[in-house]
Amino acid sequence: MRAVVYDSPFKVSVENVPDPEMQHPNDAIVKITSSCICGSDLHMYEGRTAAEPGIIFGHENMGIIQEVGSAVKTRKVGDRVVMPFNVACGFCKNCQRGFTGFCTTVNPGFAGGAYGYVAMGPWRGGQAEYLQVPFADFNCLPLPPGDQYEADFAMLADIFPTGYHGAELADVRPGESVAVFGAGPVGLMAAYSCVIRGAAEVYSIDHVQERLDKAEEIGAIPINFDEGDPVRQIKDRRGGEGTDKGIDAVGYQAAAQGSSAAGGEQEEIPNVVLNQMIDVINPTGAMGIPGLYVPTDPGGVDEDAKRGALSINFGKLFEKGLRLGTGQCNVKRYNAYLRDLIIAGKAKPSFAVSHQVSLEEAPDAYDKFDKRVEGYTKVILNP
Ligand SMILES: NC(=O)c1ccc[n+]([C@@H]2O[C@H](COP(=O)([O-])OP(=O)(O)OC[C@H]3O[C@@H](n4cnc5c(N)ncnc54)[C@H](O)[C@@H]3O)[C@@H](O)[C@H]2O)c1
Ligand SMILES: [Zn+2]
Ligand SMILES: [Zn+2]
Repeated sequence: MRAVVYDSPFKVSVENVPDPEMQHPNDAIVKITSSCICGSDLHMYEGRTAAEPGIIFGHENMGIIQEVGSAVKTRKVGDRVVMPFNVACGFCKNCQRGFTGFCTTVNPGFAGGAYGYVAMGPWRGGQAEYLQVPFADFNCLPLPPGDQYEADFAMLADIFPTGYHGAELADVRPGESVAVFGAGPVGLMAAYSCVIRGAAEVYSIDHVQERLDKAEEIGAIPINFDEGDPVRQIKDRRGGEGTDKGIDAVGYQAAAQGSSAAGGEQEEIPNVVLNQMIDVINPTGAMGIPGLYVPTDPGGVDEDAKRGALSINFGKLFEKGLRLGTGQCNVKRYNAYLRDLIIAGKAKPSFAVSHQVSLEEAPDAYDKFDKRVEGYTKVILNP
């Protein structure tokens, strides 16, 4: 089959690789219809992780079941399904408590597994024609047959639940104000989830204009951080007050104010968003941090950053009595509910999708998405 393979920093290629095989009676083989490129893939693509050449990318996968093992009871050949990016067993201590992003079965010695991701276990990615899905009863979320809502349902593998998780970690409630840092796909979904949860005012902070425009489309207030300190901009609009809540949908590769929005080297300040959140959130507030932080970053700006040690204003955080939550999204906790919002016509997460291209066009799509040019916001590959 054809698959997107990581070669070296800033280089992926589409290659012939062996088809996946059934390895266990609990497995299913899914013929992929949609697989998205994620901001998380860019960390590997840019050589900012320990990812080795040869890894098949793709953790946002959806398709039609092609084959099931004899132990699979609730899913059958021909079912249309979307898989959480987390590979999970459903029965370990963490899965049982709903923390499927921290499964201890699927990636021995570690809590958490994913398709096509460095350090997340042996699972191959789905930016390919076929995907092996273990524990298929647990990991395949059934969808209505046909091809309706394809782009909306594709968002259920990761970014819609992950954005929602950001709002959940920040405990966003009706009538509240929220500062959402980052208007990439995850930030847009976080802002959208805040709107769905009834937030009164949602600020969306980024410096890529097309992304800020999308945020405005869904009712958020765009804040361009290249035009000045975003905390100041928000407080100025709120009569000196900050916000009730904050969400970091940026992560450790946060760009400095005024840095280039379009490609090339960006001046990076890995702790800038964390400290801006501590600054902007009102006392007793909370922050959700779905943005990725890593324990090892070969390209880190200094020795501390290379081992994931960031300096944050913990004293201020204590003084304000702020709460924070972080980590991989437990997709399985939300995906069925978010699917039903889509079916009921109450959510349309495909608004974030900017491009749908064939698998063969993946190298070009990676390049443009990475440079954040030509409106590349969220890309779906259709093998
Ligand atoms: N926790 C999880 O389960 C999970 C799942 C998916 C993605 N992620 C992570 O979420 C983050 C966002 O993912 P994405 O797909 O939206 O990525 P992305 O790279 O497309 O978006 C990040 C956005 O942040 C903006 N940005 C950069 N510096 C900023 C700053 N200082 N202030 C405000 N905005 C800034 C960028 O311009 C960009 O638009 C990534 O770190 C990704 O790895 C986490
Ligand atoms: Zn993703
Ligand atoms: Zn488990």
